Amino acid sequence: MIFMSMNYVIGIDIGTSGTKSVLFDVSGNVVASSTAEYPLYQPHNGWAEQDPNDWWNAVVYTVYDIIRSSGIDPSDIKGVGMSGQMHGLVMLDENNEVLMNSIIWCDQRTAKECDEITRKVGAQRLIEITANPALTGFTASKILWVRNNKPEIYAKCRHILLPKDYIRFKLTGEYATDVSDASGMQLLDIPGRCWSDEVLDKLNISKSLLGKVYESPEITGTVTAQAAQRTGLREGTPVVAGAGDNAAAAVGTGIVTDGKAFTTIGTSGVVFAHTDQISIDPKGRVHTFCCAVPGCWHVMGVTQGAGLSLKWMRDNFCQAETETARSMDVSPYYLMDSEANKSPIGSNRLIYLPYLMGERTPHLDPDCRGVFFGLSAMHQKRDLIRAVMEGVTYSLNDCMNILREMGVQIDDMMACGGGGTSSVWRQMLADLYGCNVSTVTSKEGPALGAAILAAVGAGLYPDVVSACDAIIKKKLTQSPIPENAAKYAPYYELYTKLYQDLKDEFKVLASIE
Ligand code: XUL
Repeated sequence: MIFMSMNYVIGIDIGTSGTKSVLFDVSGNVVASSTAEYPLYQPHNGWAEQDPNDWWNAVVYTVYDIIRSSGIDPSDIKGVGMSGQMHGLVMLDENNEVLMNSIIWCDQRTAKECDEITRKVGAQRLIEITANPALTGFTASKILWVRNNKPEIYAKCRHILLPKDYIRFKLTGEYATDVSDASGMQLLDIPGRCWSDEVLDKLNISKSLLGKVYESPEITGTVTAQAAQRTGLREGTPVVAGAGDNAAAAVGTGIVTDGKAFTTIGTSGVVFAHTDQISIDPKGRVHTFCCAVPGCWHVMGVTQGAGLSLKWMRDNFCQAETETARSMDVSPYYLMDSEANKSPIGSNRLIYLPYLMGERTPHLDPDCRGVFFGLSAMHQKRDLIRAVMEGVTYSLNDCMNILREMGVQIDDMMACGGGGTSSVWRQMLADLYGCNVSTVTSKEGPALGAAILAAVGAGLYPDVVSACDAIIKKKLTQSPIPENAAKYAPYYELYTKLYQDLKDEFKVLASIE
């Protein structure tokens, strides 16, 4: 296929720490990029909320910024794709006003509602239809929490949207979602790729509250005059369905056929494997979701506090590094990375459990919390930083082990997300997984994936797999170092035991008023 040079696409990733909008040419080269951060509100231990207006303002700012700074003609932008943090609940009233802050993916307040869902749908039926047990992170339990605890808000609710789908509504006026993001609501029939009437009926949630479900590259609407005026986009620009951030990252790293997998270290950590055929863990420890390749699925394990753990470390203990980094014009993580590299494997006998926001894979436990185990007076900050990175890697290794146990074949592991840019972290992954870990030339992951979906929707490529073949190029590969693997082994073993030893104590801690 021959492309004119005047074709561009935009990928917008509505993340937890911020929104990133990127303008790409049709070959996937970055033409302009812009990021805007926003706060995460934690009014109680285990709660996590964001203001959807912050997401929209960040989208307006960043899209306007990339169009202005690139100097291109907006009519050359052939499509917009979005990727977003999954599971967050956005409720709109009859005037399309946001009714309350969004309860986002890492919020853990809904344990009671999960019991209610299991009781009403039945544990086995729930796994058969939604491919997952009832989870605090997923949207259905958040909807029930609002109904149980804020009935006056629930009564006014007319539309339920996911984070990126709220942005779609602001851009196009359409209430819609895509199969991959909808999979994380626990209301979708995952094998059938449509809303489950059975689950909706049993939970007494009206289907009229939910948007129309599309496959990820399908066009769901076009930019309205009002949104065009705010963002600088041309009125009528097509907006495709897009994908949840993990499914979008898969497209952006070329994980679109069997045998391929990636690990992302963003705020959350994810080990994701593509599957052409549906494959469900009967114990529900990992998620099976529809993926952004029409007709395919993926299996993934999630660590709640991956990059979040290192960000927590940065914000609370690394002011000096942050200031030095500013004066050197580098990221604070760059300095933290070189500190971690000065500490030996095992962080001088210090182990970190990354459960700052409870844990999903493999424990499904909203009440566990972070631990530094083995602190000694000899430890320095560098040991703590390394322990955090190792602890997150141990947790990702837990995910990898379950995928292997399920027989999911993984020949090729890519690394992406902020943490995936660290060669120290990638080496830890290679050593623990015992397989090669590679990066791709583009660092954009979810934003690139969303833009590729837009390019397919706009007809610039025939399908997702051929677009990825043309655009995604592998870069660096790191291999496991056998002596490192041997040194990590006793620490990983102890790490897995620590959760078992502490799980009852976490419950006691959570119950203290
Ligand atoms: C996936 C999940 C997170 C969010 C945040 O199930 O909860 O990866 O999508 O990025």
